[in-house]
Amino acid sequence: MITTQIEHLKSKISQSPYQAYVYSYPHKTAYRPLTPPVNLAQLWSNQDKSALFLYIHIPFCEMRCGFCNLFTTVTHNEDFVTQYVCALQRQAQRVKSALGKSSFARFAIGGGTPTQLPIQHLETIFNIAEQTIGANLQSIPISIEVSPETATQDKLKLLRERGADRISIGVQSFIESEVLATQRRQTTPQVEAALGRIKEAGFPTLNIDLIYGLPGQTVETWLQSIRAALRFQPEEIYLYPLYVRPLTGLGRTDKEWDDIRLACYRAGRQLLLSEGYSQVSMRMFQQRENNPASPVYCCQADGMVGLGCGARSYTNTLHYSNDYAVGVKEIRDILQVYIQTPNEAFDFASYGFKLDGNEQRRRYILLSLLSDEGLNFTSYQQRFNSSVYIDFPELREVKDLNLGMEDGGVLRLTEAGVELSDVIGAWFFSEKVLGLMDGYEVK
Ligand SMILES: C[S@@+](CC[C@H](N)C(=O)[O-])C[C@H]1O[C@@H](n2cnc3c(N)ncnc32)[C@H](O)[C@@H]1O
Ligand code: SF4
Repeated sequence: MITTQIEHLKSKISQSPYQAYVYSYPHKTAYRPLTPPVNLAQLWSNQDKSALFLYIHIPFCEMRCGFCNLFTTVTHNEDFVTQYVCALQRQAQRVKSALGKSSFARFAIGGGTPTQLPIQHLETIFNIAEQTIGANLQSIPISIEVSPETATQDKLKLLRERGADRISIGVQSFIESEVLATQRRQTTPQVEAALGRIKEAGFPTLNIDLIYGLPGQTVETWLQSIRAALRFQPEEIYLYPLYVRPLTGLGRTDKEWDDIRLACYRAGRQLLLSEGYSQVSMRMFQQRENNPASPVYCCQADGMVGLGCGARSYTNTLHYSNDYAVGVKEIRDILQVYIQTPNEAFDFASYGFKLDGNEQRRRYILLSLLSDEGLNFTSYQQRFNSSVYIDFPELREVKDLNLGMEDGGVLRLTEAGVELSDVIGAWFFSEKVLGLMDGYEVK
C-alpha cells in the first residue's frame, strides 16, 4: 500500500506543479450537510476559548474578476446589503451566547471586498466585533482586505481609528492590459493612488497581492509589477500563481502555461529575496527587518469563529460553514437563505466536516510543512502521542526526493519542495477527503 502510494507521489512530481492551493485542510469542497445539525454551545464548551480568531466575511465586490472563485457577488441593491449586515448582527448575538466566556486574540475581515460596504455598515462590522462579540479591538491585530477602488480616504481613516493594523490590497498586476484581460476593471493610476492613500493612513503592515500566469504576462512584465509594488515598501507580498477553476471566467491548462508560471515564480522569488524579504510559504513573502513583530496571518488556526455567509469556523473536531458555490445564481440563493435565517438556526452548525484523530494529524502536518515554520517532531509527538514517521512514512520520501530537509528535529521543505507546495500538500489528503472532494458537484 505504502509502495503504491510512493510510486504515485513520484509520478506526481513530473506532473504540473499547480495541483491545488492548500490554504486549509480539509478543503471546503469536502464539507457536507451535518445530520443532525451540531449545537454550537455544546461544540464550543470543550474548546480552549482563551485566544480565538474572529473572522467576518463580506461577500460583496464591485466586479467579478474572471479568475476568482471566492464566495462573493456583485450587488448594487443597498437593501440587500443592509439585510446582510442585519443577519450578521443576529448571527453574532447567537454565536456569542453559544461561546460564553471567550477571548479573542486576532480579528480579520475578508471577502469579497469588505470595503465595498458603505462606511456606516463598515462601522457596524467593527461594532459587532467589539460590542456583540466582545473582542478588544484596540489591543489585538486586525487585518482587512481592500481593493484599489474601494480603499477610499474616509474608509481607511475609519479602519485605522478602529484599530486595523494590516491592510491587504489585491492589485494582481501593475500592467493594465493583463488585469483587463481577466475582466477586472482597474487602472494603474487608480492602484497607485490607493497605495498612496494607504501609506498616508499609516498602517503598520501593508500586504500586496500579485498574480502570475495572467493572459499576456511575461517574466519581464511580471518583474515590472513586483518592482512597482516594491516602490510602496510593503511589509508583505503574496505572489499567487493563477489558478483557473470551473465556472470562473478564464480557461487554460497547458504545459506552456505551467512553464511560464514556474519561471515567474522563480524570478519573483529571487527578486524579493534580493530585496531583503523572507519567504514564509510558496506564496507569502515578508519584510521582517522593518516588521519584526508582525504575526503571520494564517486563517487555519484551530479556534476560529467565522461570522457571515461564506465564513468558515474551526474547532479541533469540526470545521463548519454555509453551503458553498461559485456560480452567480447559486451564490445569490445561498445569500438569500442566509439573510432569512431565523435566529434559533444560528445556534447550530449544519454544514461541515468532522475531523477524527487521523484528519487532525494530517491537518497538522500540512499546515506546518507548507510554511517556513516546518514540521517539529517533538511538538507532533507531544500533541498526538505518536511518531510522525510511523504515522506518515511518506514523509521520508519527501526527504529522499530532496523536497524536504531535516534539521534539529524539524522537517522543512527545500527550495525545490517549496515550489512544489501545491503538489506536496495534496499527498497528505486522506482517501476520505479526496473522495468527498471528487464527489463534490461544482455549482
Ligand atoms: C479577497 S481577494 C483580495 C481583495 C479584493 N477582493 C481584491 O481583489 O482586490 C484575495 C486574493 O486572492 C487572489 N486570488 C483569487 N483568486 C485567484 C486565482 N484563481 N488564482 C490566483 N489568485 C487568486 C487574488 O490575488 C486576490 O487579491
Ligand atoms: S479578486 Fe477580489 S474583487 Fe475580484 S471577484 Fe475576487 S474577491 Fe472580488
